Amino acid sequence: MSLSVKDKVVIVTGAGRGIGQAYAEDLAADGAKVVIAEISADDGAATAAAIKQKGGEAIFVHTDVTKFESTKKMAEDAVAAYGRIDAIINNAALYGGLKSKSLLQLDEAEWDRVMAINVKGIWNCVRAVLPQMTKQGKGKIINIASTVALRGTPFMLHYTASKGAVLAMTKALAVELPVITRANITVNSICPGLTFTEASIKLLEGQDKAIEANIRDQCLKRKEVAEDLVGAAHYLVSDASDFMTGAAMVVDGGAARH
Ligand SMILES: NC(=O)c1ccc[n+]([C@@H]2O[C@H](COP(=O)([O-])OP(=O)(O)OC[C@H]3O[C@@H](n4cnc5c(N)ncnc54)[C@H](O)[C@@H]3O)[C@@H](O)[C@H]2O)c1
Repeated sequence: MSLSVKDKVVIVTGAGRGIGQAYAEDLAADGAKVVIAEISADDGAATAAAIKQKGGEAIFVHTDVTKFESTKKMAEDAVAAYGRIDAIINNAALYGGLKSKSLLQLDEAEWDRVMAINVKGIWNCVRAVLPQMTKQGKGKIINIASTVALRGTPFMLHYTASKGAVLAMTKALAVELPVITRANITVNSICPGLTFTEASIKLLEGQDKAIEANIRDQCLKRKEVAEDLVGAAHYLVSDASDFMTGAAMVVDGGAARH
């Protein structure tokens, strides 16, 4: 069974920056055809251009995961460009720009926006790729959760709750999709630990003690970076993970020890 992703068609949502960009670049470097589904037109186009400049294959599709019509177009554009959809990495989330706050200070509109992107966005993307994956008889859905859901991270209740929903949806979809499609569709999640993307660096500005405490909790005593996560995604896209479904892969230097 091969770990190669050569010629696999993979949609990565939220791949304009941060960890999503790292997934897209890693997969393209191994020969995958990557669809960058991103709400920021500048960032999405830049990720696709950078991949092509290195000799990889990528297209940018302007996508808002909160809108089903937009995710439907994302799937249609992927099939129009590359003929199939082997995998989708549901990575887009409202994370960058959030601030640590008590539940008493959380804004209701922000709560709804977090749920719309992080939870409903995955439902939309799954519904959008399902017809093509069903036709193929095979597909791989990879949902990006977070160790915040395993550890009960406080002061981001909406975000922590949304990632708990991603873990639960992953299991329910793993059971339901093969029943309704009769296809070999696997659904797994990845739980990154605190990863030093631009978004996390801004969120944790001035919180050196919290950063140190997080590293102390890890078995491996260094900051996690986006590149630490690409191996798990690569494996889940590849045929090597064909019999794995309903699982959560924790990549956090051993902090959650789930
Ligand atoms: N960085 C961390 O410490 C960490 C830890 C655990 C889990 N995660 C998860 O990993 C993923 C990536 O994290 P990151 O640090 O790169 O975050 P980020 O905020 O930098 O990236 C999120 C990306 O999603 C895009 N996006 C937002 N709303 C969208 C929408 N409606 N439609 C399409 N795209 C949209 C953003 O434009 C951005 O490019 C997220 O799911 C995040 O929750 C991150």
